[in-house]
Amino acid sequence: MVRTILHYPDKRLRERGKKVEAVTDEVRKLIDDMAETMYAAPGVGLAATQIGELIQLFIIDIADNEEPSDLRVFINPEILEATGELTWQEGCLSFPGVTEEIDRAAKVRVRAQDRGGKWFELEAEGLLAIAIQHEFDHLQGLLMIDHMGPLKKRLTHRKMIKRAEEQAAP
Ligand code: NI
Repeated sequence: MVRTILHYPDKRLRERGKKVEAVTDEVRKLIDDMAETMYAAPGVGLAATQIGELIQLFIIDIADNEEPSDLRVFINPEILEATGELTWQEGCLSFPGVTEEIDRAAKVRVRAQDRGGKWFELEAEGLLAIAIQHEFDHLQGLLMIDHMGPLKKRLTHRKMIKRAEEQAAP
């Protein structure tokens, strides 16, 4: 089922995700919903907190359109190591129409559980490393706007407020 993606400034986006105690069928059902929601958007990543599910879970698929899908699931993720620097033009499904060049680590080593509950470690670079850091931020209640300079931050805030008002108008 495609779920509603929360848009900034929805306050729920500022909540932290709670630890997933057990990877149950209920969690797997949520992962299926998140994948459907992400592909429908479309986007390359989605955190559970973006659909109002306040748990430590995000998904990523950075496969090109011509490639078969490559869904990656990260439950209770920890970033063990972050090295180098990389600037990437990022977007976010919670900020429709907004992009920003954000500086992040070029490489990360992450530890997380997969949809079977099994722990794995992954070294990532390039877009995958960027996506992992972006989605990991979401689980801490951090958003792309927090990485912007003061002027861009103000403009983006105003733009998103205006958008929310227009959508709320009858
Ligand atoms: Ni995002």
